[in-house]
Amino acid sequence: MGVIASAPAKVILFGEHFVVYGEPAIVLAIDKRAYAKAELRDDKRLYLRSVNLNLAGYFENGIFNVEQGNAKEAKLKFEPLKLAVEKVLEIHGENVGLNIEVNSTVPVAAGLGSSAAVAAAVTAAVGALLNVKMSKEDVFRISFEAERSVHGTPSGVDPAVSTFGGTLLFQMDTGFKPLDIKADVPLVIGDTGVERSTRVQVAKVRGVRDKYPRVVEPMIRTAREIVLRAIDALKENDLETLGDLMNINHALLCGLGVSDESLEWLINAARKAGALGAKLTGAGGGGCMIALAENERLEQVLEAIQRAGGRAFIAKKTDEGVRVEQT
Ligand code: MEV
Repeated sequence: MGVIASAPAKVILFGEHFVVYGEPAIVLAIDKRAYAKAELRDDKRLYLRSVNLNLAGYFENGIFNVEQGNAKEAKLKFEPLKLAVEKVLEIHGENVGLNIEVNSTVPVAAGLGSSAAVAAAVTAAVGALLNVKMSKEDVFRISFEAERSVHGTPSGVDPAVSTFGGTLLFQMDTGFKPLDIKADVPLVIGDTGVERSTRVQVAKVRGVRDKYPRVVEPMIRTAREIVLRAIDALKENDLETLGDLMNINHALLCGLGVSDESLEWLINAARKAGALGAKLTGAGGGGCMIALAENERLEQVLEAIQRAGGRAFIAKKTDEGVRVEQT
Protein backbone atom coordinates (compact mmCIF):
# COMPACT_ATOMS: atom_id res chain seq x y z
CA MET A 1 0.00 0.00 0.00
CA GLY A 2 1.26 3.45 -0.83
CA VAL A 3 1.20 6.80 0.90
CA ILE A 4 0.43 10.02 -0.94
CA ALA A 5 1.58 13.44 0.23
CA SER A 6 1.28 16.83 -1.43
CA ALA A 7 2.76 20.31 -1.15
CA PRO A 8 1.77 23.65 -2.69
CA ALA A 9 3.50 25.85 -5.22
CA LYS A 10 4.11 29.48 -4.39
CA VAL A 11 4.30 32.96 -5.78
CA ILE A 12 6.74 35.52 -4.54
CA LEU A 13 4.83 38.78 -4.20
CA PHE A 14 7.89 40.86 -3.35
CA GLY A 15 11.59 40.42 -2.83
CA GLU A 16 12.84 37.59 -5.07
CA HIS A 17 16.60 37.71 -5.71
CA PHE A 18 17.08 40.36 -3.00
CA VAL A 19 16.17 37.64 -0.51
CA VAL A 20 19.41 35.85 -1.48
CA TYR A 21 21.27 38.88 -0.01
CA GLY A 22 19.47 38.67 3.31
CA GLU A 23 16.52 40.95 2.55
CA PRO A 24 12.93 39.98 3.36
CA ALA A 25 10.50 38.55 0.82
CA ILE A 26 6.74 38.11 0.89
CA VAL A 27 5.57 34.84 -0.50
CA LEU A 28 2.29 33.00 -0.64
CA ALA A 29 1.34 29.38 -1.17
CA ILE A 30 -1.15 28.84 -4.00
CA ASP A 31 -3.71 26.19 -4.83
CA LYS A 32 -1.52 24.29 -7.30
CA ARG A 33 0.02 21.23 -5.69
CA ALA A 34 2.65 18.59 -6.36
CA TYR A 35 1.74 15.03 -5.32
CA ALA A 36 4.09 12.18 -4.46
CA LYS A 37 3.19 8.55 -3.84
CA ALA A 38 5.64 6.30 -2.01
CA GLU A 39 5.54 2.49 -1.86
CA LEU A 40 7.91 -0.14 -0.54
CA ARG A 41 9.75 -2.43 -2.94
CA ASP A 42 11.05 -5.94 -2.42
CA ASP A 43 14.56 -4.97 -3.58
CA LYS A 44 16.81 -2.04 -2.64
CA ARG A 45 16.18 0.08 -5.73
CA LEU A 46 14.93 3.63 -5.56
CA TYR A 47 12.53 3.80 -8.50
CA LEU A 48 11.29 7.27 -9.49
CA ARG A 49 8.64 8.22 -11.99
CA SER A 50 7.34 11.64 -12.94
CA VAL A 51 3.95 11.32 -14.59
CA ASN A 52 3.79 14.91 -15.79
CA LEU A 53 7.36 14.98 -17.14
CA ASN A 54 7.21 11.48 -18.70
CA LEU A 55 10.43 10.47 -16.98
CA ALA A 56 11.26 7.31 -15.09
CA GLY A 57 14.34 5.49 -13.85
CA TYR A 58 15.96 3.98 -10.82
CA PHE A 59 19.05 4.32 -8.66
CA GLU A 60 20.80 1.11 -7.71
CA ASN A 61 24.08 1.17 -5.80
CA GLY A 62 24.32 4.89 -6.56
CA ILE A 63 24.07 4.38 -10.34
CA PHE A 64 21.15 5.88 -12.26
CA ASN A 65 19.41 3.83 -14.94
CA VAL A 66 16.85 5.56 -17.13
CA GLU A 67 13.65 3.75 -18.13
CA GLN A 68 11.65 6.53 -19.74
CA GLY A 69 12.68 9.85 -21.32
CA ASN A 70 16.04 11.52 -21.66
CA ALA A 71 18.65 10.02 -19.29
CA LYS A 72 20.38 13.33 -18.51
CA GLU A 73 17.14 15.17 -17.84
CA ALA A 74 15.77 12.33 -15.71
CA LYS A 75 18.93 12.19 -13.61
CA LEU A 76 18.89 15.95 -13.12
CA LYS A 77 15.28 15.92 -11.92
CA PHE A 78 15.64 12.80 -9.77
CA GLU A 79 19.01 13.44 -8.05
CA PRO A 80 17.56 15.97 -5.55
CA LEU A 81 14.68 13.61 -4.78
CA LYS A 82 17.16 10.78 -4.17
CA LEU A 83 18.97 13.08 -1.75
CA ALA A 84 15.72 13.85 0.09
CA VAL A 85 14.81 10.16 0.28
CA GLU A 86 18.29 9.31 1.62
CA LYS A 87 17.90 11.89 4.38
CA VAL A 88 14.60 10.33 5.45
CA LEU A 89 16.16 6.85 5.31
CA GLU A 90 19.00 8.12 7.52
CA ILE A 91 16.46 9.11 10.18
CA HIS A 92 14.64 5.80 9.63
CA GLY A 93 17.93 3.98 10.23
CA GLU A 94 17.43 1.33 7.57
CA ASN A 95 17.91 1.27 3.82
CA VAL A 96 14.80 0.12 1.95
CA GLY A 97 13.81 0.05 -1.71
CA LEU A 98 11.05 2.43 -2.78
CA ASN A 99 8.81 3.34 -5.69
CA ILE A 100 8.12 7.05 -5.86
CA GLU A 101 5.61 8.48 -8.28
CA VAL A 102 5.39 12.23 -8.71
CA ASN A 103 2.42 13.96 -10.27
CA SER A 104 2.47 17.72 -10.26
CA THR A 105 0.06 20.39 -11.42
CA VAL A 106 2.75 23.04 -11.00
CA PRO A 107 4.37 24.37 -14.20
CA VAL A 108 8.02 23.33 -14.17
CA ALA A 109 10.97 25.75 -14.14
CA ALA A 110 8.51 28.63 -14.17
CA GLY A 111 9.19 30.43 -10.90
CA LEU A 112 6.41 28.77 -8.94
CA GLY A 113 8.71 26.59 -6.87
CA SER A 114 7.83 23.29 -8.52
CA SER A 115 11.04 21.54 -7.48
CA ALA A 116 10.61 22.55 -3.82
CA ALA A 117 6.96 21.46 -3.81
CA VAL A 118 7.93 18.08 -5.28
CA ALA A 119 10.82 17.66 -2.79
CA ALA A 120 8.55 18.47 0.17
CA ALA A 121 5.84 16.09 -1.05
CA VAL A 122 8.35 13.25 -1.60
CA THR A 123 9.96 13.82 1.82
CA ALA A 124 6.58 13.74 3.58
CA ALA A 125 5.32 10.71 1.63
CA VAL A 126 8.42 8.62 2.40
CA GLY A 127 8.41 9.76 6.03
CA ALA A 128 4.75 8.78 6.45
CA LEU A 129 5.24 5.44 4.65
CA LEU A 130 8.10 4.48 6.98
CA ASN A 131 6.45 5.95 10.08
CA VAL A 132 9.40 8.26 10.57
CA LYS A 133 8.59 10.97 13.09
CA MET A 134 9.20 14.21 11.25
CA SER A 135 8.15 17.72 12.12
CA LYS A 136 7.40 20.30 9.43
CA GLU A 137 10.82 21.81 10.28
CA ASP A 138 12.39 18.45 9.33
CA VAL A 139 10.52 18.39 6.02
CA PHE A 140 11.64 21.96 5.38
CA ARG A 141 15.28 21.18 6.23
CA ILE A 142 15.37 18.12 3.99
CA SER A 143 13.65 19.74 1.03
CA PHE A 144 15.96 22.74 1.43
CA GLU A 145 18.97 20.42 1.15
CA ALA A 146 17.44 18.93 -1.98
CA GLU A 147 16.91 22.45 -3.36
CA ARG A 148 20.52 23.39 -2.70
CA SER A 149 21.67 20.58 -4.91
CA VAL A 150 19.62 22.01 -7.82
CA HIS A 151 19.71 25.75 -7.37
CA GLY A 152 23.19 26.56 -6.11
CA THR A 153 22.68 29.18 -3.40
CA PRO A 154 18.94 29.36 -2.84
CA SER A 155 17.53 31.35 0.06
CA GLY A 156 15.17 28.59 1.22
CA VAL A 157 12.05 30.61 0.49
CA ASP A 158 10.58 27.97 -1.86
CA PRO A 159 10.84 24.95 0.48
CA ALA A 160 9.63 27.12 3.40
CA VAL A 161 6.37 28.07 1.74
CA SER A 162 5.81 24.62 0.21
CA THR A 163 6.21 23.12 3.68
CA PHE A 164 4.34 25.61 5.83
CA GLY A 165 1.82 27.13 3.38
CA GLY A 166 0.08 30.45 3.98
CA THR A 167 1.50 33.92 3.46
CA LEU A 168 5.00 34.25 4.82
CA LEU A 169 7.52 36.94 5.45
CA PHE A 170 10.77 35.16 4.77
CA GLN A 171 14.27 36.25 5.59
CA MET A 172 17.33 34.06 5.39
CA ASP A 173 18.82 34.66 8.83
CA THR A 174 15.57 34.94 10.79
CA GLY A 175 13.59 32.33 8.84
CA PHE A 176 9.92 32.76 8.11
CA LYS A 177 7.12 34.47 9.94
CA PRO A 178 3.48 33.82 9.01
CA LEU A 179 1.73 37.04 7.97
CA ASP A 180 -1.82 37.21 9.15
CA ILE A 181 -3.38 38.65 6.02
CA LYS A 182 -7.12 38.55 5.81
CA ALA A 183 -7.24 40.25 2.43
CA ASP A 184 -7.51 37.93 -0.52
CA VAL A 185 -4.86 39.06 -2.94
CA PRO A 186 -6.53 38.70 -6.35
CA LEU A 187 -3.78 37.55 -8.68
CA VAL A 188 -3.52 36.31 -12.21
CA ILE A 189 -0.47 34.20 -12.99
CA GLY A 190 0.86 34.26 -16.53
CA ASP A 191 3.28 31.58 -17.65
CA THR A 192 5.51 32.61 -20.56
CA GLY A 193 6.21 28.95 -21.27
CA VAL A 194 9.92 29.82 -21.38
CA GLU A 195 11.76 27.43 -19.05
CA ARG A 196 14.75 28.78 -17.23
CA SER A 197 17.14 27.84 -14.49
CA THR A 198 16.98 29.52 -11.09
CA ARG A 199 20.68 28.80 -10.67
CA VAL A 200 21.56 30.76 -13.84
CA GLN A 201 19.35 33.74 -12.92
CA VAL A 202 20.72 33.92 -9.36
CA ALA A 203 24.27 33.80 -10.75
CA LYS A 204 23.40 36.57 -13.24
CA VAL A 205 22.28 38.89 -10.44
CA ARG A 206 25.41 38.06 -8.46
CA GLY A 207 27.49 39.03 -11.51
CA VAL A 208 25.79 42.44 -11.81
CA ARG A 209 26.16 43.05 -8.08
CA ASP A 210 29.85 42.12 -8.12
CA LYS A 211 30.45 44.41 -11.09
CA TYR A 212 28.48 47.42 -9.80
CA PRO A 213 28.29 47.07 -6.02
CA ARG A 214 27.62 50.75 -5.32
CA VAL A 215 24.81 50.80 -7.84
CA VAL A 216 23.21 47.54 -6.77
CA GLU A 217 23.46 47.98 -2.97
CA PRO A 218 20.92 50.84 -2.94
CA MET A 219 18.61 48.72 -5.13
CA ILE A 220 18.80 45.98 -2.51
CA ARG A 221 17.91 48.48 0.21
CA THR A 222 15.01 49.76 -1.91
CA ALA A 223 13.72 46.21 -2.23
CA ARG A 224 13.65 45.97 1.57
CA GLU A 225 11.64 49.21 1.80
CA ILE A 226 9.20 47.83 -0.77
CA VAL A 227 8.61 44.74 1.36
CA LEU A 228 8.15 46.76 4.56
CA ARG A 229 5.67 49.07 2.86
CA ALA A 230 3.90 46.10 1.29
CA ILE A 231 3.32 44.47 4.68
CA ASP A 232 1.28 47.53 5.75
CA ALA A 233 -0.55 47.63 2.43
CA LEU A 234 -1.44 43.94 2.76
CA LYS A 235 -2.75 44.49 6.28
CA GLU A 236 -4.81 47.46 5.13
CA ASN A 237 -5.98 45.62 2.00
CA ASP A 238 -4.66 48.59 0.03
CA LEU A 239 -4.50 47.00 -3.41
CA GLU A 240 -3.58 50.21 -5.19
CA THR A 241 -0.40 50.63 -3.16
CA LEU A 242 0.39 46.95 -3.58
CA GLY A 243 0.09 47.35 -7.35
CA ASP A 244 2.41 50.37 -7.38
CA LEU A 245 4.95 48.49 -5.27
CA MET A 246 4.80 45.50 -7.60
CA ASN A 247 5.59 47.77 -10.55
CA ILE A 248 8.55 49.31 -8.70
CA ASN A 249 9.79 45.88 -7.62
CA HIS A 250 9.61 44.69 -11.22
CA ALA A 251 11.61 47.71 -12.40
CA LEU A 252 14.39 46.78 -9.98
CA LEU A 253 14.43 43.19 -11.21
CA CYS A 254 14.43 44.43 -14.77
CA GLY A 255 17.45 46.59 -13.96
CA LEU A 256 19.28 43.53 -12.71
CA GLY A 257 18.66 41.80 -16.04
CA VAL A 258 16.30 39.03 -14.96
CA SER A 259 13.27 40.05 -17.01
CA ASP A 260 13.06 39.09 -20.66
CA GLU A 261 10.96 39.84 -23.70
CA SER A 262 8.42 37.10 -22.99
CA LEU A 263 7.80 38.45 -19.48
CA GLU A 264 7.62 42.07 -20.64
CA TRP A 265 4.92 41.18 -23.18
CA LEU A 266 2.71 39.61 -20.57
CA ILE A 267 3.38 42.30 -17.96
CA ASN A 268 2.55 45.10 -20.38
CA ALA A 269 -0.58 43.30 -21.58
CA ALA A 270 -1.77 42.90 -17.98
CA ARG A 271 -1.14 46.54 -17.12
CA LYS A 272 -2.95 47.73 -20.27
CA ALA A 273 -5.91 45.54 -19.36
CA GLY A 274 -6.27 47.35 -16.06
CA ALA A 275 -4.05 45.43 -13.64
CA LEU A 276 -3.11 47.52 -10.61
CA GLY A 277 0.43 46.20 -10.88
CA ALA A 278 2.41 43.41 -12.49
CA LYS A 279 5.84 41.88 -12.06
CA LEU A 280 7.84 38.78 -12.73
CA THR A 281 7.71 36.23 -9.94
CA GLY A 282 10.49 33.86 -8.93
CA ALA A 283 13.81 33.85 -10.69
CA GLY A 284 12.74 35.47 -13.99
CA GLY A 285 14.45 35.02 -17.37
CA GLY A 286 11.13 33.54 -18.57
CA GLY A 287 8.86 31.58 -16.26
CA CYS A 288 5.91 33.37 -14.71
CA MET A 289 4.62 36.85 -14.04
CA ILE A 290 1.86 37.89 -11.66
CA ALA A 291 -0.70 40.64 -12.04
CA LEU A 292 -2.78 42.14 -9.25
CA ALA A 293 -6.27 43.28 -10.20
CA GLU A 294 -9.59 44.14 -8.61
CA ASN A 295 -11.82 41.05 -8.61
CA GLU A 296 -14.04 42.43 -11.36
CA ARG A 297 -11.02 42.96 -13.65
CA LEU A 298 -9.39 39.56 -13.14
CA GLU A 299 -11.01 37.92 -16.18
CA GLN A 300 -10.10 40.88 -18.39
CA VAL A 301 -6.47 40.69 -17.26
CA LEU A 302 -6.41 36.92 -17.68
CA GLU A 303 -7.69 37.20 -21.26
CA ALA A 304 -5.17 39.93 -22.09
CA ILE A 305 -2.31 37.73 -20.87
CA GLN A 306 -3.63 34.85 -22.95
CA ARG A 307 -3.93 37.04 -26.03
CA ALA A 308 -0.31 38.10 -25.50
CA GLY A 309 0.69 34.42 -25.71
CA GLY A 310 0.80 33.38 -22.04
CA ARG A 311 -0.88 30.52 -20.27
CA ALA A 312 -2.86 32.24 -17.56
CA PHE A 313 -4.79 31.21 -14.48
CA ILE A 314 -6.23 32.89 -11.42
CA ALA A 315 -4.25 32.06 -8.30
CA LYS A 316 -5.89 31.37 -4.98
CA LYS A 317 -3.96 31.55 -1.72
CA THR A 318 -3.85 28.42 0.34
CA ASP A 319 -3.00 28.03 4.00
CA GLU A 320 -2.24 24.35 3.61
CA GLY A 321 1.40 23.47 3.39
CA VAL A 322 2.73 19.94 3.02
CA ARG A 323 0.21 17.27 3.97
CA VAL A 324 -0.25 13.52 3.87
CA GLU A 325 -3.24 12.76 1.69
CA GLN A 326 -3.85 9.12 2.38
CA THR A 327 -2.27 6.42 4.55
C1 MEV B 1 13.26 31.67 -6.66
O1 MEV B 1 11.90 31.24 -6.51
C2 MEV B 1 13.53 32.88 -5.82
C3 MEV B 1 14.94 33.42 -5.89
O2 MEV B 1 14.97 34.54 -4.99
C4 MEV B 1 15.97 32.42 -5.48
C5 MEV B 1 15.88 32.05 -4.01
O3 MEV B 1 15.40 32.81 -3.20
O4 MEV B 1 16.35 30.94 -3.69
C6 MEV B 1 15.28 33.95 -7.27
